[in-house]
Amino acid sequence: MISNEEFRRALSHFASGVTVITTRDRGGAPHGITVSAFCSVSEEPPLVLACINKTTGSHYAFIERGAFVVHILGEHQRHISEQFAEPMLDKFAGITTLETENGLPVIEGALVTLECTLVQSYDGGDHSILVGEIDRSTVNDFKPLIYFRGDYRRIDPRD
Ligand SMILES: Cc1cc2nc3c(=O)[nH]c(=O)nc-3n(C[C@H](O)[C@H](O)[C@H](O)COP(=O)(O)O)c2cc1C
Repeated sequence: MISNEEFRRALSHFASGVTVITTRDRGGAPHGITVSAFCSVSEEPPLVLACINKTTGSHYAFIERGAFVVHILGEHQRHISEQFAEPMLDKFAGITTLETENGLPVIEGALVTLECTLVQSYDGGDHSILVGEIDRSTVNDFKPLIYFRGDYRRIDPRD
C-alpha cells in the first residue's frame, strides 16, 4: 500500500476541471464545496459522480437533500473555487446565486451547470461516491478552469 504522500503526489498529476457542488440541508441552509473528483458515468441514463470527503461540513446535506447542482467552473471563477474550498461560516458571501425550480442554489456564470437527483451513494474509503442523474443542464462558451499539480491552470480551447 502506498503512503498518503505518494497518493497525493501521484494523483496531483491527473489534470482535471474544477467544480463547485451545491445543495441545501433539511433546514434550508445552503451548502457548497469545491470538488475536482467529478466525472461522467453514463449517457443512458445520464449519470455523473462526485467524491465527497465524509469529514466535510456539507457531506450530510448532500445525502439529506438527495439532490445537488454541479457547476463546472470557468477560468474567471478561480476565486469561487478558492472560497468554496475554505471552511467558512458563509461560503456564499458575495456570490450571486439563482435558484433551481427545486430551490437549490445556482452560482451564476459557470461554464456548465448540471441539476442532479442523487440516485446512489457508495462507500469509497474516506469519501462517499455520489451518483447523480442529470435533470437539466446549461452550457456557456467560456474557457475552463483547470487544476494540475496543486495549482490552477489555464487552457485555451482554440489551442
Ligand atoms: C481544487 C480543489 C479540489 C478539491 N476536490 C475535492 C473533492 O473532489 N472532494 C472533496 O471532498 N473535497 C475536495 N476539495 C476540498 C474541499 O473543497 C474542502 O475541504 C472544503 O472546504 C470542504 O467543505 P467544508 O468546509 O464544508 O468542510 C478540493 C479542494 C480544492 C482546492
